[in-house]
Amino acid sequence: DLPGLIDTYGRVATDLRVSLTDRCNLRCTYCMPAEGLEWLPSGDLLTGTELIRLIRIAVDRLGIRELRFTGGEPLLRKDLPQILAAAAELRPRPRMSLTTNAVSLARKAGQLKLSGLDRINVSLDTLRPDRFATITRRDRLDDVLAGLGAAHDAGLRPVKVNTVLMRGVNEDEAPDLLQFCLDHGYQLRFIEQMPLDAQHEWDRTTMITAEEILDRLSARFTLTPEASSARGAAPAERWLVDGGPATVGVIASVTRPFCAACDRTRLTADGALRTCLFATTETDLRGPLRAGASDEELAQLWRAAMWGKAKGHGINDDGFAQPDRPMSAIGG
Ligand code: GTP
Ligand code: 5AD
Ligand code: SF4
Repeated sequence: DLPGLIDTYGRVATDLRVSLTDRCNLRCTYCMPAEGLEWLPSGDLLTGTELIRLIRIAVDRLGIRELRFTGGEPLLRKDLPQILAAAAELRPRPRMSLTTNAVSLARKAGQLKLSGLDRINVSLDTLRPDRFATITRRDRLDDVLAGLGAAHDAGLRPVKVNTVLMRGVNEDEAPDLLQFCLDHGYQLRFIEQMPLDAQHEWDRTTMITAEEILDRLSARFTLTPEASSARGAAPAERWLVDGGPATVGVIASVTRPFCAACDRTRLTADGALRTCLFATTETDLRGPLRAGASDEELAQLWRAAMWGKAKGHGINDDGFAQPDRPMSAIGG
């Protein structure tokens, strides 16, 4: 076998997160300013053909077995069904999921499933229309809820819901969100906010921690830890709710870092390879690709970059510096 993506700490990346666009149709306050960001010029974006070639190299030569498509908002990418269908032809067929704000999901879920998408993660921070409009600066809660239902009905299972709790904004909604997800058969995960906002307003002292999230949930539910063997390299730690089988997850990137088990590599919409969500350097693949590099040359660039992957994100270290690229242009 050809060597896969290994680093000096012995981790092996088998999960590729592909950002399909840096654009978004929402303006979440914790992600970007009201006016949006300076978007990547369209000529800098990988074309569908280029993306599919890099994905094929990742599967054929580098041992990638899981693909996650992100954004910005990946549903803004018109050729998403074609990209999915092409990736589904690869062998071994990679498992494929999507992380979306679900604003336009209701009318697309069926086609995505037919194109080969296996499952979906939806960002939803509140169930209250007024709060939704405050957090995302758009009045689209109904569309998101319709999108969730459509995904579930289309068989994109499990449907996972991602919630970022913010102090003074939606911190009191944790139990309501969990009850809603239990009622609809969605798997809820609460996420500790990370220093990745374009405005650099993240503040450790106001961040809602995993501990606080569990406290708030425990006021209404009985939580028992799921067997730790169930976790693998997944960022979410899970608890059985009221004895199970339903679970709730917490992604405690800040207070309980999971970097030691990381199995990820990332590709940005403009063809930069990132070894980590928090990497401060990138490796350009688009330049070599457009200059005529062979599959094996591109694979070798990828292997060499991953070998240099840092031990961890460093959020809790002195001198931590946020990456230049904001969350919306990395894909989470
Ligand atoms: P599942 O396989 O469905 O569990 O996916 P996921 O939770 O890894 O992906 P998703 O895109 O839903 O991301 C949920 C949260 O986890 C987001 O806040 C991501 O930024 C965060 N996340 C994903 N991968 C990493 C990672 O490698 N490191 C850190 N620190 N956070 C990550
Ligand atoms: N920290 C943690 N999660 C974040 N997300 C967006 N910004 C942040 C942040 N700073 C979440 C979104 C989405 C997922 C991809 O990442 O809510 O669900
Ligand atoms: Fe868009 Fe996601 Fe950023 Fe919200 S968090 S503005 S949905 S990219």
